[in-house]
Amino acid sequence: MKPYRTGHFTKNIAPLAEKLNSSLRVDKRLYSEDITASIAHAKMLAKCGIIPQSDALDIQKGLKSILDDIESGRLTINDGDGEDVHMLVEAELTRRIGTPAKRLHTARSRNDQVATDFRLFVRKACGKTAALASELIGVLIKRAENSLDAVMPGFTHLQKAQPITAAHLFMAYAEMFFRDVTRLNDCKKRLNVLPLGSLALAGTPYPIDRDFVKDALGFDRLSNNSIDGVSDRDFAVEYIGAAALIMVHLSRFAEEIIIFSSSDYGYFTVDEAYSTGSSIMPQKHNPDVAELVRGKSGRVFGGLTAILTVLKGLPLAYNKDLQEDKELFFDVYDTVSDCLEVFCGMVETLTINKERMLEACKTGYINATDVADYLTAERGIPFRAAYETTGAIVSYAASNKKTLEELSLDEFNLTADADKGLFEADIYQKIDIKTAVESRTSVGGPAAAAVKAAIKNLKKRMSETKEL
Ligand code: ARG
Repeated sequence: MKPYRTGHFTKNIAPLAEKLNSSLRVDKRLYSEDITASIAHAKMLAKCGIIPQSDALDIQKGLKSILDDIESGRLTINDGDGEDVHMLVEAELTRRIGTPAKRLHTARSRNDQVATDFRLFVRKACGKTAALASELIGVLIKRAENSLDAVMPGFTHLQKAQPITAAHLFMAYAEMFFRDVTRLNDCKKRLNVLPLGSLALAGTPYPIDRDFVKDALGFDRLSNNSIDGVSDRDFAVEYIGAAALIMVHLSRFAEEIIIFSSSDYGYFTVDEAYSTGSSIMPQKHNPDVAELVRGKSGRVFGGLTAILTVLKGLPLAYNKDLQEDKELFFDVYDTVSDCLEVFCGMVETLTINKERMLEACKTGYINATDVADYLTAERGIPFRAAYETTGAIVSYAASNKKTLEELSLDEFNLTADADKGLFEADIYQKIDIKTAVESRTSVGGPAAAAVKAAIKNLKKRMSETKEL
């Protein structure tokens, strides 16, 4: 459909320019927001005496019938049906009710209309994405509750470092996703501002009641500047920024699932419902879903770069560049939604191979810090000195191909300082991997009691953070 052209145009738009200009293919997803906002606008126009009450009633009835018909599938929106969703709805309304429809666009511009519709959509998206992230947190908490004793190596530099538990690891991700939920809630609070009434950029002489529309559409505040009202897309950037961080978190988790489910590690087994085989290697069980999520993070980061680039240096107020915002927003929203949802199922069905994880704790001297702590806590040796002594013990053990548990007391003392007899039989209890985990009871630590407390704490924060 042709864009608006009044009599001062003498030529038709070039077909390719028309194609580029049209956004219906993308923004038809805003049909319900557009109709809802138009109904509120029409009611306000009648209440303020700007259009006749009877016309406003016809407009409302007509808009509701369009909404019903789209929702029930009686009316389908085809890409060639209009320039954008706003014009399509108005044209359809005119087809249905005639002249009264022509009063709807009084005291309104597509610039403040699209800004309003888009905010309504992003507001809903914040809630839905936060709900999905909360669902994933719920899954992680459940998995943590059942793996409090699943001891595994913790890593730094991807080198075995100190023992932790699977529960502790799951809760690390739960904390990240909780921050994501709060970020989305913040975004939702900040975006809940009504731009309608800004018109093209300079407000209107009509005696409109913006507060009425604000209340009808559930906004908290009015935009305070009509130029900013139509050109602000910070809310979309904030949502996409929050989505990018969710993808950072998901992709780190994906990477760990990929590594830990590989045959050399074998800590986790990805359920068959979330893996695929190879076309040539019959033995393969690939963690494709985790890999795809890791890969899709790039797409979402691309969305963030794209919207920032669209906005950078854009003069005020509305420019058609802004039409690009929705396509990339929808792509980010769909991608992050799918990734969060698929992760819920994948994490829920992940097998935790406890024996394998415990076995892995036997190599890499991951209880070396506990030897140093023994010397410091039980024998009063300054930590830096204890650290040096332990380093020598580890190097002795490594050159003799022994684990620390396999060293005799004499060997421990030989390396430390035999005269002082620093090591006694209780060292073996101290360096037992399970004891090593259980002794780490500091707040936020991996001991079962500490993780239980962390779970309780997060559940409380979750219940206080429910839907805004
Ligand atoms: N389809 C447009 C968009 O998404 C609607 C606003 C058009 N405004 C205008 N002045 N051409 O940005």
